[in-house]
Formats: sequence, C-alpha cells, structure tokens
Amino acid sequence: MYALQKDILDCDDHDFDRLYSEQYRKHSSIHWTPIEIVFKALEWLNVKKESHVLDIGSGVGKFCSIGSLVSKGKFTGVEIRKDLILEAKIIDQKLGLNEVTYLHSDIKDVNFKNYDSFYYYNPFCEHISLKDSIDDSIRFSEEKYVEYEAYITLQLANLPIKTRVVTYYSPRFIFPESYELRGLLYEDNLALWIKTKE
Ligand SMILES: C[S@@+](CC[C@H](N)C(=O)[O-])C[C@H]1O[C@@H](n2cnc3c(N)ncnc32)[C@H](O)[C@@H]1O
Repeated sequence: MYALQKDILDCDDHDFDRLYSEQYRKHSSIHWTPIEIVFKALEWLNVKKESHVLDIGSGVGKFCSIGSLVSKGKFTGVEIRKDLILEAKIIDQKLGLNEVTYLHSDIKDVNFKNYDSFYYYNPFCEHISLKDSIDDSIRFSEEKYVEYEAYITLQLANLPIKTRVVTYYSPRFIFPESYELRGLLYEDNLALWIKTKE
C-alpha cells in the first residue's frame, strides 16, 4: 500500500477537504462525496485495473482522486464548470496523481461507450434546488433537470450488459428497465444498479 493510500484510509472528510481552497471546500458537505461513500462505491463498481469509470459531474474531482489513489482503475471526470476542473487538477498534482482524466464538457458531449462503470451523484440537482447552487454560471430550470436525466437514462440503456452504475442521493433518477437494483445502503441514498438484459 502506498503511503498516500494509508493516509486516505486514515483521514476523515474534514482533513481531506482541507486540500481544497476555501471557495470550493465550503460546498463539500452538499456537493462532494464523503470518503466512506467513495470506498463503498468503488467496491460496488468492482473497480479493477481494466475498469474505466466515469464520474458524471465530477466537481473538484474528489471521487476520481480518491478512486485513483486507492484502486488501479482508470478514472475520468466530466465537469461543466471549468474552475472546478482546474481545482481538481491542482489537487491531483499535489497528490502526485497523473492518471485521472478531466473533461471540461457538458455530459451530453461525452461518449458513454468509452466507460464500463459510472458514478452519479445527483449532478443536475441545482436545477431543482437553487438554494444549494455552487454558483450562478449555469441557467437553471426544472425542464433542464428532466431533460438531462432522460438523456442519461437513454445513454445507459444503450450500454452493454454488466455495466455498473452507482448513484448517490439521486432519488428521482429513472433507470432503464434493463437495469436491476443490486444494492441499497445509507438509508437508501447509495444505490448499485447493474445492466442485466438488452
Ligand atoms: C453533486 S456534484 C458531485 C461532484 C462529484 N461527483 C463528487 O461526488 O464529489 C455535481 C457536479 O455536476 C456538475 N454538473 C452539473 N451539470 C453538468 C453537466 N451538464 N455536465 C457536466 N457536469 C455537470 C456540477 O457542476 C457539479 O460539480
């Protein structure tokens, strides 16, 4: 085990989040995944050397950074806000990580077929919960929320059998019928879905 891996296993979110500058750290409790949840998600996604995981709406990269530190999988984060991508890259540099890929893009411009596992922490929540918004750089609307979620559902439907998706605090997200719910934890806020049929 690398020294850094041990550090991550030992530290709590308060410690880890100190890596981020204050303007991003203040969003941690609402928008960035807690370390314990990252670990459970990695286990459920069955991340191995050949896995390629996409974090849909990667924020400051907390899920990807920890994933890359503690597993051998490949991680890509797609994020619509450029400043969050820059922060993620700064932190990864501090952590000595150069394996994570960050895409500054709208999720709609990403090819889902390049990945076998997906992490989905309610990326479009700001469209329906304005009080929790990170900033006002996005035009929020309930219609967009519905449109984005429907888009993700359609992309997942077109992926191969055995595709795994972990969702966190995403109660309204609708999975295609070809996916089965295989795990629920943390008062049903963390869910594992696997594609089992065409
Ligand atoms: C709840 S945060 C989760 C961050 C990260 N996945 C984590 O677990 O720490 C959701 C992120 O999705 C991003 N996002 C929202 N709409 C997006 C879109 N259309 N394309 C890509 N990213 C988006 C937001 O900017 C925000 O950083």
